[in-house]
Amino acid sequence: MIKGTLSEISKPIKSELVQFSDLFKASMKSKVGLVDLIARYIIRQKGKKIRPLVVLLSAKVSGGVNERTYRGAALVELLHTATLIHDDVVDNADKRRGFWSINAIFKNKVAVLMGDYLLSRGLMIAVDGKDFDFLGVISNTVKRMSEGELLQIQKTRKLDIDEETYFKIISDKTASLLETCCLIGSMSSSDNPEYHAALRRFGESIGIAFQIRDDILDYEGSFSLTGKPVGGDIKEKKITLPLIYSLNQVSVREAASIRRIIKNENNKESVKKIIEFVRQQNGIEYAVRTTIKYSQQAKEALKIFPESQSKIALEALVDFIIERKN
Ligand code: IPE
Ligand code: IPE
Ligand code: MG
Ligand code: MG
Repeated sequence: MIKGTLSEISKPIKSELVQFSDLFKASMKSKVGLVDLIARYIIRQKGKKIRPLVVLLSAKVSGGVNERTYRGAALVELLHTATLIHDDVVDNADKRRGFWSINAIFKNKVAVLMGDYLLSRGLMIAVDGKDFDFLGVISNTVKRMSEGELLQIQKTRKLDIDEETYFKIISDKTASLLETCCLIGSMSSSDNPEYHAALRRFGESIGIAFQIRDDILDYEGSFSLTGKPVGGDIKEKKITLPLIYSLNQVSVREAASIRRIIKNENNKESVKKIIEFVRQQNGIEYAVRTTIKYSQQAKEALKIFPESQSKIALEALVDFIIERKN
């Protein structure tokens, strides 16, 4: 059993990650100075690179890593990077990975176009490699991610989000990409539909757990580790699982008064009040319990694979995802 850090989890595919990284960096190059400047700014930042890790490990448990796997890994990380840049525009976020966000430095119009550029470079990798099966999968993922973000905006306006809607949003905006990472990895190295299906279930489950953990970190994380400000969701009036649960624990009157604070006030004090309310109602504990449930589902899905270092690494990744502080 391996525990803990991402670098330990990455051990079975250390050299493969280097090869992915070369392709990822090369694919961002541009003759346009501004594009290249932003690309170099992004490359300097330390994202966790969880999605390429998932592609490579999924390929390895399904058969073995090959050229197609590297293209798949670069494709998903480019798409992920693009969606983060767009997400920071949508969320008015000025920090990402501990650095100023692209929109904070270069303004929204540059961020929107840079996101489109990175997405198209990802698609080009698949076109050039004739990985048309990847393109079919990824088109659906982009659709789901956009729909998830838009549904979240729709619900945020009315502050009326329930648990069912929350799960729909996070399944689309976050889990769909992790599911795709697993599927693309598996497709790159195997034609076995049972492997594809099992890894899709694994990806969906870790994806849901990943976003719930992210939403927990918004309440009790630290900026120095996440690189994102604490309380950012409340400020943007985003109601996530710890708060949804907490609102359901109190009287209609009290819930209405909390909603009023979120709606009308927007300062350090009001954010603190909301965090305090969620703590009192054990909203964080509830969310933690939910991540554990999904982590068990994820491990269950791996059962059909023969024992290997990569399988052990995927199991350890599940624990990392629900315990992570960054
Ligand atoms: C952030 O994803 C966006 C979410 C889906 C919550 P990561 O936490 O994987 O972002 P980086 O790439 O490591 O910065
Ligand atoms: C995750 O959304 C980003 C996408 C899935 C596109 P959030 O807005 O919840 O994530 P962070 O906190 O900005 O990373
Ligand atoms: Mg955001
Ligand atoms: Mg967002």
